[in-house]
Amino acid sequence: MAGVATPLPPCSITEIPRGTPKEGVPPVVEFKGVTKTFNANTSKAFTAIRDVTFSVEDVEGHGEFVAILGPSGCGKSTVLRQIAGLAPHHPPTRGEVLLAGKPITGPGPDRGMVFQDYTSFDNRTVLDNVAFGLECRGIAQKERYELAKEWIAKVKLNPVKDAYKYPHQLSGGMRQRVAIARTLILKPRVILMDEPFGALDPATRHNMQDLLIELWREVQATVFFITHDVNEAVFLGDRCYIFSNSPGTIIHQFRISPPDRPARHIMREKSFLETVYHVREILDGLEEGKT
Ligand SMILES: Nc1ncnc2c1ncn2[C@@H]1O[C@H](COP(=O)(O)OP(=O)(O)OP(=O)(O)O)[C@@H](O)[C@H]1O
Ligand SMILES: [Mg+2]
Repeated sequence: MAGVATPLPPCSITEIPRGTPKEGVPPVVEFKGVTKTFNANTSKAFTAIRDVTFSVEDVEGHGEFVAILGPSGCGKSTVLRQIAGLAPHHPPTRGEVLLAGKPITGPGPDRGMVFQDYTSFDNRTVLDNVAFGLECRGIAQKERYELAKEWIAKVKLNPVKDAYKYPHQLSGGMRQRVAIARTLILKPRVILMDEPFGALDPATRHNMQDLLIELWREVQATVFFITHDVNEAVFLGDRCYIFSNSPGTIIHQFRISPPDRPARHIMREKSFLETVYHVREILDGLEEGKT
């Protein structure tokens, strides 16, 4: 059923009130019947996503955390890159992608992106990487360095010792902290994260998840977070979309209670494990249906 999102069985998944969307204010992000066919009208035409429809409302004082799950190749990154306004994923072949009610026309400072591969500039120090966006905005050196040091500390790096290191002198977890600081320092309205912790070991990953929740609460941005890790999606998301096999469309969406304790505690609880079990069943079913 194209474009029809259904809730999961009730189990431990709670419908949580999130406050009322601001009256007369358009959703932060809205997809209306979006289809993307790469190389359309050629013999290589390939439809990656089909009829994707969803809407993330603008709620007073609460940026939503949207986790996206789905089999490999179902079009998750395509959806994220459309929100980022990056070609060739943007523009869609059919349908509309709206940001605050307006069609997206390309990348913009209101959206920040963090990828799995560490995307810092190798020839810049941590300080200059974190301050990069402010430099592009023409902020004077003293002011941008002050703010960058604040953000280096917020992502739990050392603003004295780590600030003058180069990316090759950092661990994978440290480099992702730099990427997060570099994005959040610009206070984007929407943060797009494509498997940002995919390359990290489990303990580092838990620490990064806790850190992300802490910072997200502070900046109150809307986050779209792609992951293959069901635990991570259920822990981080207040809402989760599950995409079908290719061409991807949303086949399930549900709300989850917000994380109120550290990842390593919540992830051992019965209700959490039951939710993960249900979601995994759906994803396993999709993987089996692939062949
Ligand atoms: N620029 C492109 N040109 C042609 N096909 C593309 C292009 N980008 C992506 N695709 C195809 O579109 C489909 C969806 O790709 P996408 O990267 O969005 O999947 P994904 O769900 O993010 O996968 P994964 O979980 O493996 O990262 C894939 O079959 C991919 O090969
Ligand atoms: Mg991807």
